[in-house]
Amino acid sequence: MDKLVITGGKPLKGDITISGAKNSALPILCAGLLSAEPILLSNVPHLADIRTLSKILQGTGCKVARRADDVLTVQGDDIHTKEAAYELVKTMRASILVLGPLLARFGKAKVSLPGGCAIGQRPVDQHIKGLQALGAEITVDEGYIYAVAPKGRLQGASVRTDMITVTGTENLLMAATLAVGETILENAAREPEVTDLANLLVSMGAKISGIGTDRLVIQGVDALHGACHAVMPDRIEAGTFLCAVAATGGEITLRNADAASMGATLDKLRECGLMITVDGTNIHAKMDVMPKAVSFQTREYPSFATDMQAQVMAVNVVAAGVATISEHIFENRFMHVQEMRRLGADITIDGHTAVVRGVKQLKGAPVMATDLRASASLVIAGLAAQGKTTVERIYHLDRGYDRMEEKLRAVGADIVRVKE
Ligand code: EPZ
Repeated sequence: MDKLVITGGKPLKGDITISGAKNSALPILCAGLLSAEPILLSNVPHLADIRTLSKILQGTGCKVARRADDVLTVQGDDIHTKEAAYELVKTMRASILVLGPLLARFGKAKVSLPGGCAIGQRPVDQHIKGLQALGAEITVDEGYIYAVAPKGRLQGASVRTDMITVTGTENLLMAATLAVGETILENAAREPEVTDLANLLVSMGAKISGIGTDRLVIQGVDALHGACHAVMPDRIEAGTFLCAVAATGGEITLRNADAASMGATLDKLRECGLMITVDGTNIHAKMDVMPKAVSFQTREYPSFATDMQAQVMAVNVVAAGVATISEHIFENRFMHVQEMRRLGADITIDGHTAVVRGVKQLKGAPVMATDLRASASLVIAGLAAQGKTTVERIYHLDRGYDRMEEKLRAVGADIVRVKE
């Protein structure tokens, strides 16, 4: 397993180009199942999760190919298997996003129940409940979800999920585009990635109103056609690099970023002392003071994103003062804490709340990644620490960051990947 070896204490300086958003590209690839015509996708990041989902789609007969110009084409004109098998689904929970499209287009689907994951149980009961409201008959047996539309097609209905769920909203939105009649999704997630998916679906001929709000209204159509779409920039990758410069000091410019989707993160990092200016798709950030501790709670968009929690904690670890961080989305998303303590961090946990007391200096040490954003936070802490830090099990990192160590090295970080 690969690891990253970091020698910290160096300020970052230079330009970083942001890749397309993982959490937008994943549902958007699944939208390719909704049409027999091809969708042509640009700005799709080069990530392990994208490769995994591509294999799952290809397993159904869906064509997925990346052209020489880096455009990814997805074409569902020859789907022979309406199934997503356990072997691949177990490695990536977002595979559940094939359920809605397969069921909506073909009237049946068999998808492995995604297992839990490090950060929490992450059940899919709301996905199932919503599809049942659209007329699906669903049984769960031996670890598989079996779904059938008894009338051959899903029927439009009003659905309110018990809690705001991002992929739940995305699954139901995709399913509703081909249902008979009108569907209303109440309590819908408003994450920018949901909006990006909705915009693609509209360009494929779907009829959706309320995009960007918590109430989506979809008029079902008989078929969707092909489209071209550029995946939105990854707001979490961009936020991660801003946290890196906040923790190490220096001055960077993010290119191809989408500041409008990063409001809560930019507010919090400005509060911590990062000087941020936005110029179109460029975000310029400069840190020439010691960070100030910032407290926050993770909530659904547009509040502070849970996917940024670990990274801002890494800034708080080397900040002046005491910060209180409350994680309200997932039940076990503090696993980076025990690893940060190995670097000298002073963090106490009480249930969903972590109290972080900034320390003058972290000292490098071997640490182990446990999940995607935890890995990113350990890289940030390693960049700020004095001496050498090795981050093990960085396959977690590769799921959601496109060549992170290359992008960091290009702005002066001393970081190398060691293949083992
Ligand atoms: C999406 O996961 C993201 N993944 C996650 O990003 C992100 O952390 C999360 O949304 C929250 O923003 C993708 O988009 C591929 P949820 P998702 O359904 O959709 C509970 C990353 O680091 N819930 O919004 O799985 C659930 O347990 C990843 O890039 C149910 O109880 O999250 C959680 O507590 C990590 N039943 C809460 O709702 C359900 O049927 C929010 O989960 C669905 C969800």
